[in-house]
Amino acid sequence: MATNREILILGASGGLGTALASGFADLDAVGTTRSGIGATIAVDVGDEVALRGVIETVAPRYILYAAGIADPDACERDPDLSKRVNLDGLGHVLRHARAQGSRVLYYSTDYVFGSAGEYDEHARTSPLQTYGRHKRQAEQLLLGFDAAHLVLRLPLLFGATVPGRDFVTSTAQALREGRPLRRDERRRYPVSVDHVVVVTRRLIADPELESGGIFHVEGSDGISKSEWACYIAGLLRIEPRFDPAPAPAPLAPRPDGARLRSLHPELCASAPGELWRRTREIVAAS
Ligand SMILES: NC(=O)c1ccc[n+]([C@@H]2O[C@H](COP(=O)([O-])OP(=O)(O)OC[C@H]3O[C@@H](n4cnc5c(N)ncnc54)[C@H](OP(=O)(O)O)[C@@H]3O)[C@@H](O)[C@H]2O)c1
Repeated sequence: MATNREILILGASGGLGTALASGFADLDAVGTTRSGIGATIAVDVGDEVALRGVIETVAPRYILYAAGIADPDACERDPDLSKRVNLDGLGHVLRHARAQGSRVLYYSTDYVFGSAGEYDEHARTSPLQTYGRHKRQAEQLLLGFDAAHLVLRLPLLFGATVPGRDFVTSTAQALREGRPLRRDERRRYPVSVDHVVVVTRRLIADPELESGGIFHVEGSDGISKSEWACYIAGLLRIEPRFDPAPAPAPLAPRPDGARLRSLHPELCASAPGELWRRTREIVAAS
């Protein structure tokens, strides 16, 4: 029998999915993971039959697709896996969401853009790697299914509580253990997973957004990971030590300085200074 829940979160064990699960706990949300840990439902998004069963049973008003292979190098190494999770799983969801009248929100990425520049929701995409290409194909699939569905493109995320998924806590740990840091001078505009929860809540609560479409989560503070690591080191009063060897070239090419801008900053942009404020809080709690 259908339970008519409010929200189904796919990928509830991930860096983003964990934040969504706690950020939507008051809204009758249920999460899925591959292994079914805790109170989550076990389902592999590549298994259409199983996924259909979950969607029919939960019959949610919203499905948040936070499952993904989010590491571009892993996608380059295993394009079939990337396609299965980043693209095909969404196709399964879309086919069965329709019968339940569920609206789908898919988390995409700034890696649909390939070079430095500022990009709003209408900008032309130009992904450089398998990950970005599959995410772009997924966006197109979703928007072709139903104009009420939503795509939320995200920049680099931080603040995840899943071990190893957060730059700030991983860097603080490396500094405390005296391990050398990797230089990374690419310019990014990170936002916290908490901010993504806030934007998601705004989008699905906004009665004027009946029409769906693409939205950009805009980070207001620009930084490179090297600068960020120095800031974290300053908070800890530890002299940062960088690995003198040049970082090996990543398998998947990445854009440098691609910035998501939003035509809806009141809904989507982080507050200026949020990066620094949240970094201080995370370091203090780590
Ligand atoms: N992290 C970022 O900086 C960033 C930036 C831009 C966009 N995004 C997008 O945001 C989304 C979430 O990213 P994230 O950082 O939270 O990723 P993550 O921490 O790697 O989590 C990915 C989630 O997907 C699940 N998953 C993987 N394969 C699955 C499968 N076959 N069936 C069911 N679930 C599966 C994982 O479950 P298991 O725990 O069982 O593996 C996990 O819950 C992704 O779509 C990513 O493209 C992330």
